[in-house]
Amino acid sequence: MNVGIDLIHFATSDYYLGLDTFAEEKGIDVNKFYVGIGQERMSIAPPDEDIVTLSAKAAAPLLDQIERDKITAVLLATESGVDQSKSASAYLHGLLGLHKNCRLIELKHACYAGAAALQMAQGLVHANPNEKVLVIAADIAKYDVDSSGEATQGCGAAAMIIKKDPRLLVLEPGSGFYADDVMDFWRPNYRETALVDGKYSTKVYLNSLKETWKHFTINTGRGYEDIDYFCYHLPFTKMAEKAHKALTKVAGVSLSDEEMKALLAPGQAYNRQLGNSYTASLFIGFASLLDNASEDLTGKRIGLFSYGSGCVSEFFTGVVQPGYQDHLFSDDHRWQIEHRAPLNYAEYLQLYHTQPEGLYEGQVVLPEYNRGPFRLKAIKDHKRLYERREA
Ligand code: HMG
Repeated sequence: MNVGIDLIHFATSDYYLGLDTFAEEKGIDVNKFYVGIGQERMSIAPPDEDIVTLSAKAAAPLLDQIERDKITAVLLATESGVDQSKSASAYLHGLLGLHKNCRLIELKHACYAGAAALQMAQGLVHANPNEKVLVIAADIAKYDVDSSGEATQGCGAAAMIIKKDPRLLVLEPGSGFYADDVMDFWRPNYRETALVDGKYSTKVYLNSLKETWKHFTINTGRGYEDIDYFCYHLPFTKMAEKAHKALTKVAGVSLSDEEMKALLAPGQAYNRQLGNSYTASLFIGFASLLDNASEDLTGKRIGLFSYGSGCVSEFFTGVVQPGYQDHLFSDDHRWQIEHRAPLNYAEYLQLYHTQPEGLYEGQVVLPEYNRGPFRLKAIKDHKRLYERREA
């Protein structure tokens, strides 16, 4: 039975901070960001946008194209959860009005959890071909002001329907995976912002990629030549080039800079504008490849590398299906990116790094910044109150 990604759509926030504005404020040459890490803008979520509203915005258009009452599970991967107990999937289930015969769960392991959710969803469908699983990877990446990670912040949610006979990508059996207990990036429960050992995290990412790749080749018998395109977890856009250089070295393949650029650029386009979206970043990269590839991808094998700090990683593959172009949300993806409003540095600090008044007392009324169909309206008696606006 063929199982895989039937539809994919992503959402981001309505605001961005330009890395030009950021560079000017910090007195740093902007090319450190444009060229050095490959970032132009970062999506900034205002206080009334969280991973639930981003997830709802990402999932709603998919549900208009399938029998929404047939969704049997919602697997939501995030490391920016809004509650330690109730899963974000439960809030989402309510906001989207899904059928009550449904399972709801939130998954966590840094940026890796989206790939874990995908694997779990595949397992459900293989066990019962009637399952239609909504997988969502959603995050708001937040580092301390003036920390090394600040320039790589961003946010986004990628929603996917996983079912049999998928219209976009058939996921193939077999993958490579690797784990190690390391402290490269983490966020203790009492912190709003992540802690990172930036340079070390990049080294751990690359080492994990090499080990994962070796495991993949042993497990599947496939090699570099069997794969047409590569999508990587993108904590910053330039990471794809670092990763691919490391992978080609292990695989014993030689690529010119131009060849590497042509191979990776379609999958990098959106991340350059969004910044890191943690769990969502790999899947936004995959959507970017489908939307921006310069050739028909039908029959092409895509390799996807998921890395989550701490760390766990997995390399898996899928084959693009005939007619996939008829089921993409390319126009909407581009529209969202183009229609974000710019922030100046003071506005960014106010929206992204200022706690709403009354948060720890569980009594907050949030001003309307979020222009999307779903917003966090208030927190009352420690309960989050969301609203759905009609179009
Ligand atoms: P940094 O100290 O800000 O920057 O750290 P740098 O001085 O290393 O410069 C970055 C690059 O820009 C360098 O190129 C410079 O040469 C270049 P490279 O040596 O890397 O090829 N550069 C310039 N280029 C052109 N013109 C200029 C110029 N100036 C400098 N004027 C770092 C960079 C990535 C460490 C930092 O941004 C950071 O801490 N980021 C957060 C952590 C991170 O993204 N880690 C990646 C791997 S871990 C991961 O992916 C997991 C994660 O997503 C979390 C999760 O799993 O949940 C983070």
